[in-house]
Amino acid sequence: MIVPKPVRHESRPGSFVLDSRATLNADPALAEVAAWLRGELAPVTGGELLPGSGTITLTLGDLPPEAYRLTVGPRVEVVAGGPAGAFYGAQTFRQLLPPAAFRRAATGPFTVPGTYVEDEPRFRWRGCLLDVARHFMTKHDVLRFIDLLALHKLNVLHLHLTDDQGWRIEIKRYPRLTEVGAWRRESQTGWNGAMDGRPHGGYYTQEDIREIVAYAAQRHVTVVPEIDLPGHTQAAIAAYPELGNLGTPLEVRTTWGVGVNVLNVEDATIEFFQNVLDEVLELFPSPYIVLGGDECRKDQWRASPAAQRRMAELGLGAEEELQSWLIHRFDDYLTERGRRLVGWDEILEGGLAPGAVVASWRGELGAVAAARHGHDVINCSNTSLYLDYRQGPGEEEPVPFGTVLTLEDVYAFEPVPEELRGDPAAARVLGAQCGIWTELIDSSRHLDYMAFPRLAAFAETVWGPAERDLAGFRDRLAAHLPRLEAIGVEYRRADGPLPWQRRPGVPGRPEDRERWQAKLDAWTSNLRTL
Ligand code: ACM
Repeated sequence: MIVPKPVRHESRPGSFVLDSRATLNADPALAEVAAWLRGELAPVTGGELLPGSGTITLTLGDLPPEAYRLTVGPRVEVVAGGPAGAFYGAQTFRQLLPPAAFRRAATGPFTVPGTYVEDEPRFRWRGCLLDVARHFMTKHDVLRFIDLLALHKLNVLHLHLTDDQGWRIEIKRYPRLTEVGAWRRESQTGWNGAMDGRPHGGYYTQEDIREIVAYAAQRHVTVVPEIDLPGHTQAAIAAYPELGNLGTPLEVRTTWGVGVNVLNVEDATIEFFQNVLDEVLELFPSPYIVLGGDECRKDQWRASPAAQRRMAELGLGAEEELQSWLIHRFDDYLTERGRRLVGWDEILEGGLAPGAVVASWRGELGAVAAARHGHDVINCSNTSLYLDYRQGPGEEEPVPFGTVLTLEDVYAFEPVPEELRGDPAAARVLGAQCGIWTELIDSSRHLDYMAFPRLAAFAETVWGPAERDLAGFRDRLAAHLPRLEAIGVEYRRADGPLPWQRRPGVPGRPEDRERWQAKLDAWTSNLRTL
């Protein structure tokens, strides 16, 4: 009962006993995987799992890099195409142990029944966005979350580091970004504009970032940073007002929604963000860098003589083209440095730089348009993969936001949009990514509730075949939830929140939901013309 479901999984005669006499032999190329597995099994094995006769072996074979074969009998053998495959084989082995083995205080011995597994992923981008801008999550919480992604064989953590409500990464050249931009007075708690009156903040030092990136790399997770621009930048403008259009001081934003305060388009502002990117590129080896591009309101550019002058100089007829011009400049900057720009699907509006990757979020129309225009695509559809959306219709959901997105809805998701099936452009779909936006998620415990078990369903959709088997998934999940329980994950029960998981939310009024639906419809209608 492995989650995500392996390609092939069979019983074999015999069994393996994991106890303090177990030994581990690994190919030198797999030393890091071996070190990780030693750590995970330490409570059972007494912390040693020394090299020896090799009751557990990790070796390389002629397979794709993320593929593995796992055989459990009197011995455990993982044969993998590369370190990632060996890591996934080792993760599968852990799931064959009883759930109690996931407890930090586990003590063996544990018996594993004879098993043969053949496995490899369907998609190479199996991602999760974590918004640490709206609510800061401590480094410890981020590392724990990386372990949970890796348990589900996800391999991308998209860290949404900057937004109107917070700037979370130390930039040495511009210290006010975190001195000012990482803190806010209070936060909006729900639909109706109620405020909590509670100061909030925090940021990662560059040392913290290095630690997060290295920790993730050992677990075969690439951390992809997002510096959102030119919209969603009020925290940066609060720190450095010269980046904005008004010339008057602003505070770090306390409410959410799509704000009017956006970057100006002066050369000095472009240079400022290029300098920011120089430090970001130094910290994140990821080939992909996300520069947002979403939800940039053009009100201030329309009203700004400087922005209008810039448009005239460039011969641009519309503010959308100004945004496109700006994104092209940053795309050139990243391309010259050997990285690829990823942007939300708004970057399609007004023309898109050739190497850019589109993160399609407003439904799937952006994914279809981008793939047909020859761009690589990550399917991040908000109608299937936004895990901040409420999980049931009841008003006791904490906090009822968005439209209802159940576990079953997520499991039904297919990364290749229907319109692309049978079309060679489908090869442009690198994979998919769920999103955990945290306007209303202010703790790791609440994050657990929103992410699990929907994230397990998502993992099946990006790892396994296109066919869905809901009854089979339910059985696997029944075996999986005790593992999450043993790790201490406060997941949502099928019948809703436990008493202490309820939060005094702001009820989703019917008129708010209608407004929400109208907004979704309006967004997707402008995508239809691309
Ligand atoms: C987004 O949800 N604004 C990408």
